[in-house]
Amino acid sequence: MEGQVVIVTGGSSGMGKYMAKKFVQEGANVVITGRNEERLEAAKQEISGEDPAQVLTIVMDVRKMEDAERMVMETESAFGRIDHLVNNAAGNFIAPAEKLSANGWKTVIDIVLNGTFYCSHAVGNYWIENDTKGSILNMVATYAWNAGAGVIHSAAAKAGVLSMTRTLAVEWGSKYGIRVNAIAPGPIERTGGADKLFESEAAAKRTLQSVPLRRLGTPEEIADLAHFILSEKASYMNGEVVTLDGGQWLNQFPF
Ligand code: HXC
Repeated sequence: MEGQVVIVTGGSSGMGKYMAKKFVQEGANVVITGRNEERLEAAKQEISGEDPAQVLTIVMDVRKMEDAERMVMETESAFGRIDHLVNNAAGNFIAPAEKLSANGWKTVIDIVLNGTFYCSHAVGNYWIENDTKGSILNMVATYAWNAGAGVIHSAAAKAGVLSMTRTLAVEWGSKYGIRVNAIAPGPIERTGGADKLFESEAAAKRTLQSVPLRRLGTPEEIADLAHFILSEKASYMNGEVVTLDGGQWLNQFPF
């Protein structure tokens, strides 16, 4: 990734931070975005290598198209190019569907579904206008095609992101050579998602029981996969979703 530029939305915590760290280690200039400046600065300290100028932080909200467009402009003026976009920013909470408020539904749809479109639209247009190309990686979840009981807002939004992944892979792949892929992580340690899953000891035990490999994934494993998908080694991969969940979603009748 030497000399390349990668934008990671929601890059100040969880998987986003670990992916950003991996890309920095691989020589990329990395932009991390988020809503909170302090958290972004702390993440920058943590992931920067010897050259702090390798990491740019941008305070923005993926729910705003104008923020996505500013993200592209600030990246261009700092680094002069964009090679990859990782749509990692997400919002989620556990709520029974019948109790979910209209605003709770809208908030998660706005962050996950609309945010992914706004950022992809802004970066895609940058590539198209500059006659260059790059690749997009979307973070989904196995409940994008399976059931997401307790997280109907996130499941519906991730299903939309998966559809967007495949649609843009065809539309932008054929016209512009832009690749669009996705990763569907299972339960991953040191992430906001795991914190939510492990709110109680019983919930933690249930989750571990549901994974055939009987362990959580690590954010480093996600980062390694993300690096591979963005790299030239995966240059023929387009419209694919790669699951990294220890076999969890296949475990329909846990034993
Ligand atoms: C019920 C809730 C709620 C909860 C928020 N809401 N949390 N309803 N149970 N636990 C409702 C609020 O009451 C409000 O509706 C609406 O959602 C918006 O809430 P705000 O707090 O105003 O929104 P905001 O400040 O924008 O925060 C967004 C957020 C927050 C999604 C609620 O959690 C967030 O920013 N999260 C970002 C990080 C994150 O979630 N990462 C995990 C991703 S893991 P009303 O009607 O009251 O106005 C993942 C996969 C893992 O995606 C899967 C594991 C389950």
